Amino acid sequence: MLTTPLLRLSERLAQLTPSATVALNGKMSQMKARGIDVISFGQGEPDFPTPAPIKAAAVQAIDANKTRYTPAGGIAELREAVAQRLLADSGISYTAAQISITSGVKEGLFLAFLAVCDGGDEVIVPAPYWVSYIEQVRLAGATPIVIDTDESTRFKVTPAMLEQHLTPRTRVLVLSSPANPTGAVYTAAELHALAEVLRQPQFAGVLIFSDEIYDQICYIPYARWLRVAPDLAERTLVFNGWSKTYAMTGWRLGYVAGAKPILTAIRDIQGHSTTHPNSVAQYAALAAYTPSAELEATIATMVQAFRSRRDLILAALAQQAGVMCDVPDGAFYVFPNVTALLNRPFANGITCATSLELADYLLEHAQIGLVPGEAFGAPGYMRLAYAQSEASISEGMRRFAAAVV
Ligand SMILES: Cc1ncc(COP(=O)(O)O)c(C=O)c1O
Repeated sequence: MLTTPLLRLSERLAQLTPSATVALNGKMSQMKARGIDVISFGQGEPDFPTPAPIKAAAVQAIDANKTRYTPAGGIAELREAVAQRLLADSGISYTAAQISITSGVKEGLFLAFLAVCDGGDEVIVPAPYWVSYIEQVRLAGATPIVIDTDESTRFKVTPAMLEQHLTPRTRVLVLSSPANPTGAVYTAAELHALAEVLRQPQFAGVLIFSDEIYDQICYIPYARWLRVAPDLAERTLVFNGWSKTYAMTGWRLGYVAGAKPILTAIRDIQGHSTTHPNSVAQYAALAAYTPSAELEATIATMVQAFRSRRDLILAALAQQAGVMCDVPDGAFYVFPNVTALLNRPFANGITCATSLELADYLLEHAQIGLVPGEAFGAPGYMRLAYAQSEASISEGMRRFAAAVV
């Protein structure tokens, strides 16, 4: 029989919080398996299929037996395509040695935290945050320093807030625009102001992790960090990928670009862990980054659909007395403030004290899955992902309204 000491987990894991969205999805799957018709606002992924030319490239890669190990940082053609894209987008020239293809942006971020953080280092993470930043920082042995934001700054960090949280131990600032869960997008002026703070000599040792995964899903002109602060390119790691823009969440492909010593370290860790991302997925991603009018039109159609769904869900939320929702300028999430629904009985006599309880209540009583703000370091809010059909959004919001009278 196994004894408890044998099953002891590492101290590293003792503080790991499982993903709330994964937990919600598990609960919803169980309900669906029992035949219950659940509408999910939980899933942060496009409902569109991966575009046809990308799928065709993957099939071709299989037929051509491109199914063997690739270099740790990814195939040369894909790294070159990424370099071209980065040059066009940000004006910065990267060599292949400065780019690594990873199994999703998630892996890229994790490898980067592992590569640059030591115990005692601080990583600044604006809240509401994408949950994995916090856990990855902790797994890398560093300490997350959270900057709380709310509607008053449209969920964005101001220069004063940043300056208050920077210390001699700050190693990284995580900058995410458009952000998950709020959809907040920084303007060029706002990025300029943050860059001014980071240019001060005492903060010269701070790296910037710019997570740009939603850059194409943006409803206002996108302000790119390195266009605003090209002088900070040496201190910036850019993260991007294919999951959201190309509806390729399951292919698990992303990339990280930045200073060569850090990218070399990232590839070294890859070499000893995953080796490299799936070879067939890399050829599919290459097709996605090969200029094509057909593909561009497909992406434009998807983004247009997200935009009208955003407007639909915002209109439904506006009908909800007391619920405030900042208009998100990007991604496919809304993040309403639901405090007006807490601590007051609904018509059925049930009262919810927290957004966590409200999420449970809505799942049980209205069969709609939403992620409570607690998961993103922001109690009192809810995240609703609207990457689903308009009919489903309308029905979900009807259930929401009916459950909170
Ligand atoms: C802000 C942000 N960064 C990174 C990721 C990870 O994306 P990927 O599927 O490429 O690992 C997500 C996914 O939800 C995200 O929302």
